[in-house]
Amino acid sequence: MATTRISDLLKTGQPDDSVTIQGWVRTKRAQKALCFININDGSCMSGLQVVADAETQDYDAVVAQITTGSSVKITGTLVESPAKGQRIELKASGITIFGDADETYPLQKKRHSFEFLRTIGHLRSRTNTLGAVFRVRNVCAQAVHQFFRDRNFLWVHTPILTASDCEGAGEMFTVTSLNLNQPPLSDDKAIDAEQDFFGKRAYLTVSGQLEAEIMAMAFTNVYTFGPTFRAENSNTSRHLAEFWMIEPEMAFCDLMGNMDLAEDFLKYIFRAVLDQCEDDMAFFNQRIDDTVLATAENIIDNEFARISYTEAVDLLLKADKKFEFPVEWGIDLQSEHERYLAEDLFKKPVIVSDYPAAIKAFYMRLNDDQKTVAAMDVLAPKVGEIIGGSQREERLDVLETRIDEAGLPRDAYWWYLDLRRYGTVPHAGFGLGFERLIQFMTGMGNIRDVIPFPRTPDNIDF
Ligand code: 4AD
Ligand code: MG
Repeated sequence: MATTRISDLLKTGQPDDSVTIQGWVRTKRAQKALCFININDGSCMSGLQVVADAETQDYDAVVAQITTGSSVKITGTLVESPAKGQRIELKASGITIFGDADETYPLQKKRHSFEFLRTIGHLRSRTNTLGAVFRVRNVCAQAVHQFFRDRNFLWVHTPILTASDCEGAGEMFTVTSLNLNQPPLSDDKAIDAEQDFFGKRAYLTVSGQLEAEIMAMAFTNVYTFGPTFRAENSNTSRHLAEFWMIEPEMAFCDLMGNMDLAEDFLKYIFRAVLDQCEDDMAFFNQRIDDTVLATAENIIDNEFARISYTEAVDLLLKADKKFEFPVEWGIDLQSEHERYLAEDLFKKPVIVSDYPAAIKAFYMRLNDDQKTVAAMDVLAPKVGEIIGGSQREERLDVLETRIDEAGLPRDAYWWYLDLRRYGTVPHAGFGLGFERLIQFMTGMGNIRDVIPFPRTPDNIDF
C-alpha cells in the first residue's frame, strides 16, 4: 500500500480508512496491553498517534523494540480518537521497524537548549522547533519564486566563484587549488596567483548583484537567489559566513520603485507563510516569541515608514535613550540605532534612504547634493537591517570617480563600466538576507537556528 504523509492524514483522513505511514518515533507510552506511539514524518508539527494492542502483529516483540528515535512503517486503520486535541488516530495492525535507536539517542523527551542542539546538527531537524523553522523556510523560498514569477522577473543564476568584490569591503574568502604547503612564489615572494586555477585571484561571491545588473541590462527585470559568503569575523546572532540572498535587479527603475518592490515583496512572503504555515506559526507565537503573529499582521496591513538617513539621525539625536555608539551625521547606523527606529519608535519596518556616500558601496548612485547616495535599507524590529539596496550609478564618469575614490582598481571592473558605455539606463535593486527574514518571521533569536547547517567563525561541522 502506498504510504500517506501524516499532514495529509490529519487533514483529510476518515475513520475506517486503511493507511500506511512511515516516520520516526517521537514518544512511546506502553501500558500492559496497550501502547501509544507518536510518529512524526516531518510533514507537520504534530505527529500521528498510533495505538498498538494485542491485535497488532507480534505486539510484545515489536513494542519492546520500539524506542524514541527509531524509524518505522505502520499499517492499520484510522479510528476516531477519544483523546483530546486530535481528531483521528491510527490503530496499528502491523509495525515494521527499519532502524532502532538505543538510549544514547540524544533527543529523548525533554527540552533541549538551542546551543546544545547546534552540537547535534545532524539530528536537530527532528525537533519541533527546527522542524517548524525549516518548513517555514521552505514556504518562504517557494513564495519568493512565485512573487517574481507573477511579476515576470527572469530568474538568473549568478556565479558563486568570482574574481570581483561586489561590496568592495574586502570580506571575501579566497578560493585556490594551489598546494598551500608549497605555494608557487613570484619574484616578490608573494603567492603567484597566475599559477592558480583561474590564473588570477578567485573568491567566493559576497553578492550576485554585479552579474544581476548585467542580466537586467538584457532582460529588464531579473532576480537571483543563491548562497553568498562573507569572511567578516562577527560572532553575532545576526551574522553568518554563508547565507542566502535574494537579489532583484530592475532596469528603468529608480529608488522609489525599488522601495515599493521591497515593501510589496515582504508583505507577499508574510501573507504566504500565514496562509500556508498556520500550525508552525502558532507554535512560534506560543513557544518562541508571542509577538510574531501580531508582527506578521502588522507587516501585511500597514505601510512601512520611510525616512531619509538625515531624518533618522535627527530622530536618534532626539531619542531619550542612551546609545553605546554616539550618533552624528556621517556614522554608519549600528544595530542598536536600527532597532531603536524600527522597534521603539515606529514599531514596524522602516525604510531609511539616502545615506552618506562615504559609508556606502561604490556602485550606489550619487545624489545631486554630492554628499549622499540613493541607497535604502529596510530595518525590521528585533533584527535590524534585513534588506540593503540602492539605485545604481548609471553615469560612466561618476562611476569611474567613485571606483577611484573607493580605492578599487578600475580595470577589475572593466565589464561593469562597459554596461555604462553601451545602452546605460537608470536601474535599481536590493538584497534580502534570507536568514534574517526567517528570523524576523519566526522570532528565532539566533540566526544559526534558521539555516540547516550554519557556518560561523570556528564552526563548519555537518
Ligand atoms: O547590505 P548588503 O551587504 O547588500 C548587498 O550585498 C547588495 N549587493 C545587495 C543588492 O543590492 N543586490 O547585504 C544585503 C542583505 C543585508 O541587508 C542582510 O539582510 C543580509 O544581506 N546580510 C547577511 N545576512 C546574514 N549574515 C551576514 N553576514 C550578512 N551580511 C548581509
Ligand atoms: Mg547593508
